[in-house]
Amino acid sequence: MSRRVFSALAFSSLVMAFAPLPVMAQGAGELVVYCSVQEEWCRPMIQTFERATGIKVSMTRKSTGETLAQLKAESANPRGDIWWGGTGDPHLQAAEEGLTEPYKSPKLSELLPQAVKQAELSQYRTVGIYAGALGFSFNKEQLAKKKIAEPKCWADLIKPEFKDEIQVADPNSSGTAYTMLATFVQLWGEDKAYAFMKALHKNVNQYTKSGAAPARAVATGETLIGITFLQDGVQQAVMGAPLQIVAPCEGTGYEIGSMSIIKGAKNMENAKKWYDWALTPEAQNIAIAAKSYQVSSNVKAVLAPESPRLDQIKLIDYDVAKYGSTAERTRLLKRWDAEVRNAPRN
Ligand code: G6P
Repeated sequence: MSRRVFSALAFSSLVMAFAPLPVMAQGAGELVVYCSVQEEWCRPMIQTFERATGIKVSMTRKSTGETLAQLKAESANPRGDIWWGGTGDPHLQAAEEGLTEPYKSPKLSELLPQAVKQAELSQYRTVGIYAGALGFSFNKEQLAKKKIAEPKCWADLIKPEFKDEIQVADPNSSGTAYTMLATFVQLWGEDKAYAFMKALHKNVNQYTKSGAAPARAVATGETLIGITFLQDGVQQAVMGAPLQIVAPCEGTGYEIGSMSIIKGAKNMENAKKWYDWALTPEAQNIAIAAKSYQVSSNVKAVLAPESPRLDQIKLIDYDVAKYGSTAERTRLLKRWDAEVRNAPRN
């Protein structure tokens, strides 16, 4: 992604009032949503949609890699209708594997270029709904207590003073952690990236299932440092945690959070209703009330003052097509399992 596109992402969002949705008749059927953002954001989305449409929604919250695995497991008899949220790579993989349904929403023309690119790359089987940059956060109080210098770069995270002080998710379950893996490979080349992740492994106290969990652990002081998308750290800081977010000095990767209709969805029409609605500024603005500070994909959605300004962060030109491909993602995760997960910690 070019810097220009991200400048557009950061600055084209205008303040919009919450426009009421048309209230439709009851008995409008059902919808099963697989949600891969944090539960605090899934819930108000669903409540608002239910109120506006009369459609009864049931929701399962799972991380992005886990949801992809669920889609595969259920492909003979799909139970979900729409997969909303989570990093773009597993959505692209699902598209490549024919697990999701092509759909051209009339709302596509209102979206930022990178969100549309996600649709084009997948032959309209997925679409961008938000963007976020990867980084880390630390607990300021604990760092001061331990008298350790502030980490500013990825390279700082492998210093011996951070032994057992870092938390990050498992890239198999978490799209966030896979974005980290793919970011290191793009920053330094594959062998250096794996050498770095093996060194980092010595400092990791826990690989969590969900990508945002390490930011919560930083907030409570359970860990000193957490690697997450920056917006997950901002959320904790906004809620009062002594947490400092860091956009690493070497540069960093980003996600195009995505949405896909599940192939064979039993409630296909309602899935399309959700899809079109979820691309409106009104639906995307629900993020802010849920303290979710991604950059929304609709050009008219609000950019919260708390949202990290992506045009002020050194971003790599993340190769969405390559790292969202089945072959590359599968191969890199296999190598992570073989070389990093069980590597010695001393
Ligand atoms: C958090 C972030 C989202 C991201 C998601 C991925 O909720 O705020 O922007 O898409 O994590 O979750 P995962 O658990 O798959 O890393």
